[in-house]
Amino acid sequence: MDGKLVSQAVKDRLKQQTDARRAACKKLPHLAAVLIGNNGASETYVASKVKSCSEVGFTSTLIRLAEDISEVQLLNKLTELNEDFDVDGILVQLPLPKHISEQKIIETIYPSKDVDGFHPESVGRMVQGLPTYYPATPYGILLLLEHYKIETKGKHVVVIGRSNIVGRPISIMLSKNEYPGNATVTVCHSHTSHLKEICLQADIIIAALGKPEFLKADMVKEGAVVVDVGITRVSDPSKKSGFSIKGDVDFADVSTKCSYITPVPGGVGPMTIAALMMNTFKACAAKDSV
Ligand code: GUN
Repeated sequence: MDGKLVSQAVKDRLKQQTDARRAACKKLPHLAAVLIGNNGASETYVASKVKSCSEVGFTSTLIRLAEDISEVQLLNKLTELNEDFDVDGILVQLPLPKHISEQKIIETIYPSKDVDGFHPESVGRMVQGLPTYYPATPYGILLLLEHYKIETKGKHVVVIGRSNIVGRPISIMLSKNEYPGNATVTVCHSHTSHLKEICLQADIIIAALGKPEFLKADMVKEGAVVVDVGITRVSDPSKKSGFSIKGDVDFADVSTKCSYITPVPGGVGPMTIAALMMNTFKACAAKDSV
């Protein structure tokens, strides 16, 4: 499954819709991205998000803050963005420095601007099947499954990982009573016994545990669909950057056995960004009637 290709198709559609808004003199989507400190991976992700905004015709504001910014200063900045009518979506790139409470930050962003879908209100609405913003990575996975018309109804999905960002939300989304959903979902984690046996029963495996090349061919049923959410930087002296990016799936090994698989990079990563753009567009369009 080619995340680059599918994300481009999603972005092309969004660009057309944004052009139509511009032609109709409607407000254009505006994403505010907050980046704290100098974490290399976070810098890369935020740069991709800002670049995608300009590709689809959105306005973006990148707010860079020092690693030692106080929690109060950050909360004040978020309050300012909450009250700024022109800003439709607010994204604070995680992880945050240790002295700042991630939960407090997440809960400060207005649910109406929570394009990351991390606010407890957004999560609660998702669980109850109410309109809301889906977290970008699981939403991107749904868009990918939809694009390739992967059947999920009645299938056994095994999710490895239970994070708030990926594992837990995707497990809820795939069990909902509509496509892509209606799956029987098993959530596995660090305390799961017989993980290999459970994985061997899966029609679809979502690997989101953050351990490079964890999933091997002997854990995968012939013909299964494998979605790799991992993006770990592993030291690699042969690369100019000094590292390479590894997924949670041993691609060379597993790809011989499954029917569909996502590569890393070029699989789920670009879909996360496309999904964030979808959420930002929706946050903007929601203001049309205000
Ligand atoms: N860090 C890792 N994934 C994400 C994400 O989807 N959104 C934000 N804001 N930070 C992240």
